[in-house]
Amino acid sequence: MEACAPTSIPNMAIPPPPPPGPDGRVPVDVSDLSASNPMKLVPTLTGSDNMPLLVTMVAASDYRALSSKCTHQSCAVNSTLTNGYILCACHLSHFGLDGSVTQGPASTPLYRYDGVYDAANNQLRIKLS
Ligand code: FES
Repeated sequence: MEACAPTSIPNMAIPPPPPPGPDGRVPVDVSDLSASNPMKLVPTLTGSDNMPLLVTMVAASDYRALSSKCTHQSCAVNSTLTNGYILCACHLSHFGLDGSVTQGPASTPLYRYDGVYDAANNQLRIKLS
C-alpha cells in the first residue's frame, strides 16, 4: 500500500485588510451581515490590543467594531454567537452585539473602536487607533 502524502497544501491564506483610506479608516464590508447573521470576526484586522476585531450589526445601518478581547481576564471571545450573545468561554461572560455586558463576571463592555457606516458602499469604516 502506498503511503499517503500531501501533494499540495490548500491556500488558506486570508487576504490582508485593505489599507486605510485618506481618513485613516479601514473599510470592512458589512454586506454579509444581517439580522440572522449579525456578527463576524475579521481575523486579518487587529486593533490596538493586537486582538482581531468583531464587527456586529446591532440594527439596520447600526454596526459596531469591537475588540474580541474579553474585559474580564483577556481571553478571546468566541467568534460565533451563542444564543444571540457573544460568549467568552473562559468564565462564561456574555456580551450583547453592542459589546455591553449581559452576564458577568466581566463588568466592562468590550472595547469599541470608532466606526462610521458608509451606506453607499455598505462598509463600516473603522479607526483603529
Ligand atoms: S476572561 Fe472572559 S469571562 Fe473571564
